[in-house]
Amino acid sequence: MRMVELIQKKRDGQALGDEEISWMISSYVNGEVPDYQMSAMLMAIVLKGMDEKETTTMTLKMADSGQRLDLSAIPGIKVDKHSTGGVGDKATLMLIPLIASLGVPVAKMSGRGLGHTGGTIDKLECFPGFDTGIDNARFIRQVRELGGAIMGQTEDLCPADKKLYALRDVTGTVESIPLIASSIMSKKIAAGADAIVLEVMCGSGAFMKNEKDARALADSMVKIGKLSGKRTHAVITNMNEPLGEAVGNALEVIEAIETLKGRGNSELKEVVFELGSHMLILNGRAVDREEAFSLMQDVIDDGSALNKLREIVNAQGGDTKAIDDYSLFPAAKVVRSVKAEEKKYLAGMNCEEVGRIVCRLGGGREVKDAKVDLSVGMKLFKKQGDLLSPGEVIAEIHAGDEMSALEAERAYLSCLELSDTPAERLKLILGNISS
Ligand code: URA
Repeated sequence: MRMVELIQKKRDGQALGDEEISWMISSYVNGEVPDYQMSAMLMAIVLKGMDEKETTTMTLKMADSGQRLDLSAIPGIKVDKHSTGGVGDKATLMLIPLIASLGVPVAKMSGRGLGHTGGTIDKLECFPGFDTGIDNARFIRQVRELGGAIMGQTEDLCPADKKLYALRDVTGTVESIPLIASSIMSKKIAAGADAIVLEVMCGSGAFMKNEKDARALADSMVKIGKLSGKRTHAVITNMNEPLGEAVGNALEVIEAIETLKGRGNSELKEVVFELGSHMLILNGRAVDREEAFSLMQDVIDDGSALNKLREIVNAQGGDTKAIDDYSLFPAAKVVRSVKAEEKKYLAGMNCEEVGRIVCRLGGGREVKDAKVDLSVGMKLFKKQGDLLSPGEVIAEIHAGDEMSALEAERAYLSCLELSDTPAERLKLILGNISS
């Protein structure tokens, strides 16, 4: 087979056959197909799409491009969670200890930031010493012993996605339903959990900009999950503004810890409880949302969710003192307050631009394998529907120097939509799709 012919076929809007997809994925993984040809193919897929059959074949082929993780040594129904990616999305940092502290085994494999969105692995590396590169045996042992572990993708798990994910990040080919569905579901299938909760984000800060596309993506992933024998549930959440107050790695970790301590952000808690409830229901630990919500509130109130975080951080070599002393996290050199100029209602913001501002501050990657500055980011004190008063501090920029802080401030002010009339608050949970 010749890659150029497959690219032409997809460019002309034709479906690729099973053998063609299989050949393309294995040849890319073993280096016979170079990045430049795969980039062209990815762009053709972004523009022309893939049907359900192509997406399923691509997903299974990617899942089998390396070893599948065998979690059978861990008793019980193992649950996993994955988000399609958004701005300020620190839900996983809370969900792992929260669900594990309720006796439900959570074996979580996470990724790094992609495009304008952040990634859990970068965030966890804010804990001095935290090892996200643990091997499979240690990962499985930790889930058995503590109920929860988190690691980055190993070399031999879904190498196809690992290569494609990094390439898509820097070639403008992230926003595509079949590419996102196959990327996420191949990892979830290979990672071996029995039940999967998917968070499909929708809005200006997500890869899916509208509800129709978000539902199509959720549907596609839930179908693939079902086909592979996994209990799968998707929650569609609103990403027209960042989740919670903090955007940027260390700032997000602190916000997640504060929320586990019971005094953090209420929007973050609402989304985390919605996702967590489905993890508990799929596992059978809770019969319905009401019971699940009350169980999660109990482990926040009695401190066991926070303790579970301590145990996990400790087991993975991280400095647990940072949980009580935030000065141990990376801190930015410059913190600049952003003030409102006039009395206006906040009627919306360009959430993707907020993600990009943080990337430009150094919090995300512009090129493959670039180093991320974990200290930079933003805190947004005002959300859609709030009234702003002149001179009031509405946000904070955490930057490496004054110049980039100033640029970020200008960019932030110009991505806000202000109005003289009251604006509605955002509805955070937009829908649920079950298998
Ligand atoms: N998250 C993933 O794991 N893959 C994507 O393609 C997008 C978000």
